[in-house]
Amino acid sequence: MHLAHLRLRDFRNYARLDLDLSPGFHLLIGNNAQGKTNILEAIYLLATLRSFRGAGGAQMTRHGRAGYFVGGNVIGQGEHEVKMYWSSQARRLTLDGRAVRKLADYFGTFRAVVFCTEDLQLIKGAASRRRRFLDLLLAQTHPTYLALLQRYTRALRSRNALLKRRLLDAVALESFTHELLATGSQLIQHRRELMPRFSPLARLAYRRIATDEEELRLEYQPSVQNDFAVELAQSRSRELALRSTVVGPHRDEIRLLLEARSAAQFASEGQKRSIAIALKMAQAEYLTGIHGTAPVLLIDDIMGELDAKRRGGLLPLLGRAHRARSQVFMTVTREDWPAELGRDLTRWEVEAGIVKLAES
Ligand SMILES: Nc1ncnc2c1ncn2[C@@H]1O[C@H](COP(=O)(O)OP(=O)(O)OP(=O)(O)O)[C@@H](O)[C@H]1O
Ligand SMILES: [Mg+2]
Repeated sequence: MHLAHLRLRDFRNYARLDLDLSPGFHLLIGNNAQGKTNILEAIYLLATLRSFRGAGGAQMTRHGRAGYFVGGNVIGQGEHEVKMYWSSQARRLTLDGRAVRKLADYFGTFRAVVFCTEDLQLIKGAASRRRRFLDLLLAQTHPTYLALLQRYTRALRSRNALLKRRLLDAVALESFTHELLATGSQLIQHRRELMPRFSPLARLAYRRIATDEEELRLEYQPSVQNDFAVELAQSRSRELALRSTVVGPHRDEIRLLLEARSAAQFASEGQKRSIAIALKMAQAEYLTGIHGTAPVLLIDDIMGELDAKRRGGLLPLLGRAHRARSQVFMTVTREDWPAELGRDLTRWEVEAGIVKLAES
């Protein structure tokens, strides 16, 4: 799978950009604040419809403009053309010229995994970060997961809104409870099934890149212990007191353990960084295993920070992506990429929102 063409209009610091892209390894070289990460952000947006920096549409629109456009040609199972337009008035997403009505229909088109400094929040941040990571992985591998998650989220919001009213509408509450249980049970099931498959990949990835001998394990801690319906009913007095739904997969935790101890509490900074990379490597491996083709890898800033051992651990993944004619995009500020990568790279120079092939 690879992106054959990227087109940007009024996206971040790009007034217009049209890039033809081959499979293989792309290095984006440039000084700080020139627009390297912005390109990765646009590619990730095409894959997930989200910014990995958590930015909204207004933030990604070039200053002084009304909206942005990001388009791409993706070659995977056949060729597809994706177009996204955003402004405060209108949003459009088309796939091969047709409006996308259900996001779930779109999600399999293009898969990407991003490695960035924000990944550290997977370890240090709130449980919602880890749930989002899991949800993305499940959306990237199960055609029905995203729709299920959206239904659950809607039912949860409506239910919480009802709980906040002074007079409880028991009939309406019952109907949202029904929807919550139906969709929530399936979310739990998906997450439960994923964990024993994913955790060993993360363990292996950690072993490859970490400088210590400790073992990484992921543990799913569902908010629901046995029976969602029973536990939700039992929580009634608490939810009336707190005016919000206190049991369900929106309260799930995914614990990251090093030698059975909480990584958030006990791991060193270096270990946390290695765990973050291991999770992303495992995500890429898992997607490759399920779909038979590697996702596009977007690597922002992290390589320069890694020592030789950790770089060495990441290289096989990059090498495999390269050999499988998949694609890797990597940003660097100086051209100090170690020789182990070889010379078979496309090098782009990024300067003030202009991208040019580097002279060799
Ligand atoms: N909405 C926007 N409109 C115009 N310019 C923007 C917008 N958002 C960000 N920029 C500009 O984009 C540039 C930053 O781009 P980017 O984050 O891609 O830099 P970078 O090349 O990755 O730098 P670094 O090496 O520091 O990470 C900055 O100059 C910033 O002012
Ligand atoms: Mg950057």
